[in-house]
Amino acid sequence: MNNYPKTSALMARGIEFLGSEHAIMCGAMSWVSERNLVSAISNGGGFGVIACGAMTPELLDAEIAATKAMTDKPFGVNLITMHPQIFELIDICGKHGVSHVVLAGGIPPKGSVEAIKGHGAKVIVFAPTLALAKKLLRSGADALVIEGSEAGGHIGPVSTSVLAQEFLPALAEEFVVFVAGGIGTGDMIAAYLEMGASGVQLGTRFACAAESIAHADFKKAFFRAKARDAEMSVQVDPRLPVIPVRALKNKGTEEFTAKQREVAKMLDDGKVDMLEAQLEIEHFWAGALRRAVVDGDVESGSMMAGQSVSLVTEEEPAADIIAKLMEQSEVALKRPSRAG
Ligand SMILES: Cc1cc2nc3c(=O)[nH]c(=O)nc-3n(C[C@H](O)[C@H](O)[C@H](O)COP(=O)(O)O)c2cc1C
Repeated sequence: MNNYPKTSALMARGIEFLGSEHAIMCGAMSWVSERNLVSAISNGGGFGVIACGAMTPELLDAEIAATKAMTDKPFGVNLITMHPQIFELIDICGKHGVSHVVLAGGIPPKGSVEAIKGHGAKVIVFAPTLALAKKLLRSGADALVIEGSEAGGHIGPVSTSVLAQEFLPALAEEFVVFVAGGIGTGDMIAAYLEMGASGVQLGTRFACAAESIAHADFKKAFFRAKARDAEMSVQVDPRLPVIPVRALKNKGTEEFTAKQREVAKMLDDGKVDMLEAQLEIEHFWAGALRRAVVDGDVESGSMMAGQSVSLVTEEEPAADIIAKLMEQSEVALKRPSRAG
């Protein structure tokens, strides 16, 4: 028996696309979304996604194998488009028969969508503008995630609510679209489903799940934080287009500002080109995020978190979070004001 008939009906296309029980994805979070959380999400009825981040092909190979040993449910792999070995990583996903590959962090490099589909997997992309979304979906991508600026991690400039109003009426009838950014309760899920979304993606809400390997101090900081503590990074040099990151404000946020100045100077002095400069920034983030998540350095590590961090108050098993979200969505959809 399905306890969530209204929500499941609105998620039908997302459920079919993902092959999961519910169309709730746990967005890839570097260092957090590894075998334990990913398998717990998929076993709990959602759809887990491994964050490949800066992993080598060998590490990704081992991570996928370990995840498969912990779940027989479908899960995805998130690859960062600027990874220098992206095509090797795609082949590793192919070797394991990974069903869904998410391409994040930029426009998919030429041939990457075709390479993934060549392995029989589905491709999920992000797009900052409607024009690019249409182009990617018409040229082979199978589904889209729209992610607003409320989200944790790397973000675009526009809020989820505005993206949803812009993208969903234009795309949701024809394509599978997931909404991400700022979702902390099932009420919000219900609202985006009613607007035409096939499903949702959450990160912050799942970062402190019981199965998440994030350090106890990282989790404690999440439980304490208010929405306003999850601040967007500032860009110090207009020539160095740094993708903003939303994270809990701490000493690390200030160190990032200093790092940008240092990299801008390297650009000025001709010591690096623009791509190297951007990679330098990304490596900074990856290192700082690792310190926060793995070592529990909540002072100078990067505490990437979305504004919905205010709705994360305790450690709960992933399956319970998913059940709670589905229940809240169902209650919202059954409200008398919505009946009819
Ligand atoms: C700690 C953390 C790390 C993240 N790392 C990545 C990443 O490596 N790749 C990626 O595509 N998105 C990353 N994200 C974004 C999530 O996948 C997800 O889209 C986002 O968290 C959704 O918004 P929410 O935080 O408001 O739920 C990260 C988010 C957080 C909170």
